[in-house]
Amino acid sequence: MLGAKNLSHSFDYDLFQNIDIELKPKTTTAILGVSGSGKSTLLHVLSSFLPPQSGVVEYNGHNIYSLPNSELVNLRKNDFGIIFQSHYLFRGFSAKENLEVSSILTGEPIDEELSKKFGVAHVLSQPISTLSGGQQQRISIVRVLTKKPKIIFADEPTGNLDKTSAAEVMSTIFEYIEQNDAALLCVTHDENLAFSCDSVFRLERNAIIRLK
Ligand SMILES: Nc1ncnc2c1ncn2[C@@H]1O[C@H](COP(=O)(O)OP(=O)(O)O)[C@@H](O)[C@H]1O
Ligand SMILES: [Mg+2]
Repeated sequence: MLGAKNLSHSFDYDLFQNIDIELKPKTTTAILGVSGSGKSTLLHVLSSFLPPQSGVVEYNGHNIYSLPNSELVNLRKNDFGIIFQSHYLFRGFSAKENLEVSSILTGEPIDEELSKKFGVAHVLSQPISTLSGGQQQRISIVRVLTKKPKIIFADEPTGNLDKTSAAEVMSTIFEYIEQNDAALLCVTHDENLAFSCDSVFRLERNAIIRLK
C-alpha cells in the first residue's frame, strides 16, 4: 500500500538517512524516538506534506511527490488521514460541526457509532472550546475516521489521555484498521502504545532499528 525507500532528510544536521518502511493493509506500525529525533518530520514526509531530500514514497505504486496536484489533493482528502499532535479543530464551532467538515469534503456520512465508541457522543453539540483536552483529541480522531481513510498517520495520538483512555482509544483505532483494510503508522515516545502495534521501530542516531 505505502512503501518508502531510501528516505533521507536533514535540516542543519542529518535527521535520518536511508530509511525503508512499508505499510500493508490491516497492519499497525509504530515509530518510537525521543523528542527531537525526527519522528514528526518522518511522518510529514510519509504523509505527503514534506518532500524528502532523497528517496521515494510510493502509494499503490506511484511516487506521491510526482503526482499531479489534483491527484495529490484527492489522496490527502480521501485516502490519507492524519491525526496531528495539536488537533487543529475549528474552535468557533461545535464538535458536530467539526465532524461535518470531514463529511462534506468527502461525502462520507457521519457515523454516530464512532462518536459513541470514542465516548464523545454526548458532547457533540458543545463548542470545541468547552471540551477537555482529552475530549478534543477524541473528536479530532473521530473527524479523521469519518472520512474512512486507508492510511492513518498519527503523531502522539494519545498525548492528552490518561493510560486507561489511551488504551481504549488505541483499541478502537485498531478495530477501525481491521474492519476497513486500512493501515496505521503511529509516531510516539510512549513504549506501551508502540508495543501494542504489530511492528515497532526506533528512530535513533539517523537510523531506524526494528524492535518488533
Ligand atoms: N522546518 C524545520 N527547519 C529546521 N529544523 C527543523 C524543522 N522542523 C524540525 N526541525 C528540527 O528537526 C529536529 C527533529 O524534529 P521533529 O521531527 O519535530 O522531532 P520529534 O517529532 O521526534 O520530536 C528538531 O531538532 C527540530 O528542531
Ligand atoms: Mg514530534
